[in-house]
Amino acid sequence: MISTDIIRPFLLTALEATDFKGLGEKYSGKVRDVYTQKAAKRAILIATDRQSAFDIKWCTIPLKGQALNQISAWWFEKIKGVMPTHVIDVPDPNAMVVKDLTMLRVEIVVRGYLTGSTGTSAWVNYNKGVRNFCGNVLPEGMVKNQKFAAPIITPTTKGEDDELIDPKGIVEHGFATKAQWEEISSKAIELFVTGQKIAAERGLILVDTKYEMGYDSEGKLTIADEVHTPDSSRYWVAATYEERFARKDEPESLDKEFFRLWLRSQGFEYGGKHPEITDDVRLMLASKYIDLYERITGEMFVLPKDAKVAERIERNLQKYRI
Ligand SMILES: Nc1ncnc2c1ncn2[C@@H]1O[C@H](COP(=O)(O)OP(=O)(O)OP(=O)(O)O)[C@@H](O)[C@H]1O
Ligand SMILES: [Mg+2]
Repeated sequence: MISTDIIRPFLLTALEATDFKGLGEKYSGKVRDVYTQKAAKRAILIATDRQSAFDIKWCTIPLKGQALNQISAWWFEKIKGVMPTHVIDVPDPNAMVVKDLTMLRVEIVVRGYLTGSTGTSAWVNYNKGVRNFCGNVLPEGMVKNQKFAAPIITPTTKGEDDELIDPKGIVEHGFATKAQWEEISSKAIELFVTGQKIAAERGLILVDTKYEMGYDSEGKLTIADEVHTPDSSRYWVAATYEERFARKDEPESLDKEFFRLWLRSQGFEYGGKHPEITDDVRLMLASKYIDLYERITGEMFVLPKDAKVAERIERNLQKYRI
């Protein structure tokens, strides 16, 4: 695993935000800056180093934007046989040029294991006594981090507050027709099964993930946003899962869950005081993102040569100026 000493200098050059001119209308998500070019029917997604958790922006994690964008780009290549993807080009380690889609108003969460620590997660709900979870009937007697008999889909609405919804609600709210939802959910399962298989070949468990899909100008269902990144997914180390599960220890995770659990361990509660994020935590998280990039892709993570990441991105996006 990459040593935190190698990453330390990048604490100072982490990419907090961008402000590019001539690239389109800017929208800042929690993690990415999106520049939309309506006339060209495309958008440019810039992955910054911002870190969110529990829907709160906390800090920057050095090199995270690059790791995220490159993991996503790698996965989009792998899954393009399953369904059309929004990717047009990846002109920079932190940037992706994509088709501007009419996005679905639901996020499609697929879960292989009973886990999680947020209000919409399977474990938190199961532990409260919920047994019908977004239309999935869950058996009694399951324990935290146990594998489901088959992956389940637990959609949430996309907006200010993510709220759990079931297929019936999706159709009733007009988020998709029944036929559309059937296509969406079957593609989501296919993506997830493909992802789990590829992850397993690399000694990893793809535990759960969130997909966003949309329709292109021809009405074709297309996978958008990010795919199987450590922000949108949980990953566990396969070799230690069984043993840790038997001991009731948390699995070794290579994703944002580490940060969520750390925040909880510092006493974080919704609406409560925010713990201070130390550089050591930022470095630990950075090394996890980089470790995951290397394990998934089998490639060495290439550290930026130039401290001026924003300038490099802008140069690499020259040909997409409008
Ligand atoms: N191909 C696409 N076409 C249009 N929008 C897209 C596409 N791919 C991703 N997006 C949107 O771009 C944004 C990416 O930014 P980011 O993930 O940082 O935002 P977020 O905080 O998750 O979402 P939001 O702030 O919108 O709730 C998301 O709103 C996502 O839905
Ligand atoms: Mg997002």
